[in-house]
Amino acid sequence: MCLTLPGQIINLKKNAAFIKNNETVQKINISLLPNLQINDWILRINNLAIKQISQKDAQEIIELLEGQKKINLSQINARFRKIIKASNVRCLTKKEIIYLLNIEGPEKEALFSEANIARKTNLKDFICIHGIIEFSNFCQNDCLYCGLRKQNRKLKRYRMSVDETVKTAVKAVKEKGYKLLVLQSGEDSFYTDETLCEIIKKIKEKCKVFILMSVGERGYECYKKMKQAGALGVLSRFETSNPKLFKKLHPTGKNFKNRFKHLKFMKELGYFIATGSLIGLPGQTIEDLADDILMMKKWANMISVGPFIPTAETPLALAPNNAKIKNWKVEMNLKMIAVLRLLMKEVRIPVVTALETSAGEDGRKKALRAGANSLMFNLTPAKYRPFYKIYGNKFYQKENIWEKYGLFKYEESYKMLEQKMTKELEKKNIYA
Ligand code: 5AD
Repeated sequence: MCLTLPGQIINLKKNAAFIKNNETVQKINISLLPNLQINDWILRINNLAIKQISQKDAQEIIELLEGQKKINLSQINARFRKIIKASNVRCLTKKEIIYLLNIEGPEKEALFSEANIARKTNLKDFICIHGIIEFSNFCQNDCLYCGLRKQNRKLKRYRMSVDETVKTAVKAVKEKGYKLLVLQSGEDSFYTDETLCEIIKKIKEKCKVFILMSVGERGYECYKKMKQAGALGVLSRFETSNPKLFKKLHPTGKNFKNRFKHLKFMKELGYFIATGSLIGLPGQTIEDLADDILMMKKWANMISVGPFIPTAETPLALAPNNAKIKNWKVEMNLKMIAVLRLLMKEVRIPVVTALETSAGEDGRKKALRAGANSLMFNLTPAKYRPFYKIYGNKFYQKENIWEKYGLFKYEESYKMLEQKMTKELEKKNIYA
C-alpha cells in the first residue's frame, strides 16, 4: 500500500477541484468524492482524489512526508558540493563515498537534505508500505551475529504450516491491503522446494500480491521453481562485501562465493532483488561500507541495510561498540541511505526494523528524510513474534496513520506498484 501527500482544496469547479502543489495549482478529478468543499483535505493518486481526511491527519502526514527544508549548499564546503553535483551525472568513486560517509555536522544535514530532494523529485510523494511474515525461526546455520543460529539452544523454535502462512498472507492483502509481502525464515530444509512453491501458489491463487522470498541459499533449482510458482523477488543480503570479514562471521556453512553465485542466478532468473549489508559489524571499516554501497548499486532493485545489533546467545553478544560517536550505527545507516539514494534515484529503500529498533520511532522519520521511501511492517502472528529473535528487543510499529491511510483499498494502488516494479526491474542505469 502507498501513502501520498495530502492536498487542500482551494477552488472547485464541476467535477474538478484545485489544490496548491508546491507553488503551482493542480487540477484534481473528484468524481469519487462528489461532496467535497473548499478547504477540505484529500489524499490523491496522481490527479485522482481518493479519500477525504481531517486537517489534523493531513498535517501529520505532511510532517512525515515533507521532510526538512532544503539546506542552502552555498554555505557548505566546495568538495561536498562537487560530489553532490557529480552524483547527478555519474556513479561516485569509492573515495567520494568514503568522504560522504565521514561527514558530520552541517554537511551531514545537507547530505540528508539532498537525498530527500532526490527522493521527492524522482519518486514524488509516495511512501510504500510492505509487510514481512516470518514463518519459521529454525535455521541450520551458525552465523556469528544472528540470534536464530542453530547453536542457540535457548530459543524456542516455531514453524508455521502452509495453511497458516497462506492465511496470514491473504488476510494481510485482503483486510489491510498489503501489495508486497516478504516471506522470511531461517534456512530451514524442513520446508521442501515443493512446500515453498505450494505456499506461493496458494497465496497467488487467493489474492493479487507481489511475493519476495527470503529463505536463504537453497540453490538454483529451488529458485527456479519458486519463480515459476509466482514469486516476484528475493530478499537476500550479502551481509558484507569484504570476503575476509564474511569468512570470520561465517566460520562454517556459508561461503562468500556461493552468496554471490545465488545473487547472480537470481538475477538471471528475473527476480526482483532486495539485498544489502549489516552496518557496524566488529572489524568492519568505512572502506568496507563504501564497497557495500557499490555492491548494492550493482545488484539491488531494493535496498536492505540495517545496523548490526549485538544479540544474546551469540558469539558476538558482547561485541564492543567501538565507535566514539553516540548513535554511530544509526547515523551511519542514515548516511548510507542518503548516499544510496543519490546513486540510485529510483530504487526502493525501506526503513528496516533493525534501524527502528536502534533509533526508536524517530528513526523512521529520520530515514524517510534521508532518502528512504518505504516501510516494512511486521505481519508475523503475535504469538510467534517474540521467538523470531534475529536480535533482541525488536521494534514493532503500532497501527497508525500509515495503515489508516495507506491507499490500499484501491486497484490503482496495485497498478501503480506494478508499473513501478516493472520499471525498477528494468533497472535503467542512468549512468550507463
Ligand atoms: N542485528 C541486525 N541484523 C541482523 N541480522 C541477523 N542478525 C542480526 C543482528 N544481530 C540480519 C541479517 C540477515 C537478516 C535476515 O537479518 O542481515 O540477512
